Amino acid sequence: MVDIVPLSSYPSYIDLLPSIQTCNITNLPENYFLKYYLYHALTWPQLSFVAVVRPKNGYPAGGKFGGIAGDVSGQYPKVVGYVLAKMEEEPSDGMQHGHITSISVMRTHRRLGIAERLMRMSQRAMAESHRANYVSLHVRVSNNAALRLYRDTLGFEVEKVESKYYADGEDAYAMHLKLQDQWMDWKAVEKRDREERKKNKKEGENGDDDEEDVDEGDEVGDLGKKEDGEKMVKVKMGRGLGVGDLVEKSDVQS
Ligand SMILES: CC(C)(COP(=O)(O)OP(=O)(O)OC[C@H]1O[C@@H](n2cnc3c(N)ncnc32)[C@H](O)[C@@H]1OP(=O)(O)O)[C@@H](O)C(=O)NCCC(=O)NCCS
Repeated sequence: MVDIVPLSSYPSYIDLLPSIQTCNITNLPENYFLKYYLYHALTWPQLSFVAVVRPKNGYPAGGKFGGIAGDVSGQYPKVVGYVLAKMEEEPSDGMQHGHITSISVMRTHRRLGIAERLMRMSQRAMAESHRANYVSLHVRVSNNAALRLYRDTLGFEVEKVESKYYADGEDAYAMHLKLQDQWMDWKAVEKRDREERKKNKKEGENGDDDEEDVDEGDEVGDLGKKEDGEKMVKVKMGRGLGVGDLVEKSDVQS
């Protein structure tokens, strides 16, 4: 059973970065320092995904990874694919867009639709979270499998050929795919939610529905409440603090 999970979801799959790096080294000559993977995961947490296989007997309940992946018995999910993606930080055309840094699937798990799913999930996140106008990538002109995936399955178009793009002198196709049609109209979503809430409230008032009124965010719990007679104490914070204020009093006594 293969699960596709966001690299930076909670519980975090960042522990899997070394396995993702291994998957990359096994499948591609373009390799990166581990910190580059981490940079992607922390800067654009929505965009990178990993394909994992659950251990044969499932994951122990209550493990770090909960229902999907757990490690209390030292069992990590097996990484069989990944897509590492980002938003272009300084787009030369001034258009906000995403970029696929790297994608690969282990030989044992190819032609199962994993790469297609990884790509589609990343593209969707680029459009919904970042309003990316398009997604770009580079592919070796000789890489038939990847070319078929991008052009025939996903609908990418070749923008230009970049001569000697790769370190060994091979040319690359620079490809892109428009994403505006996947943008979310958040205003419309919020409007729909508001109307839904209003309708529920009305139904509640008319007794048509047993549903309670929607929680509009009133105070919850005792947090911040003062006990009887408790005094508020003013504390200095942030830049106003001198070095002396930052030293624990017990440290300076001796
Ligand atoms: C390219 C790669 C990521 C595809 O992964 P995958 O999970 O096997 O791809 P999918 O199963 O999602 O395939 C989707 C479509 O891509 C095309 N495709 C994938 N592999 C193909 C192959 N070997 N030959 C021809 N077409 C292929 C097909 O159109 C396929 O659809 P279909 O199976 O319905 O015919 C994988 O072969 C790989 O990791 N290659 C080495 C690393 C690499 O080249 N990465 C890309 C760098 S730009």
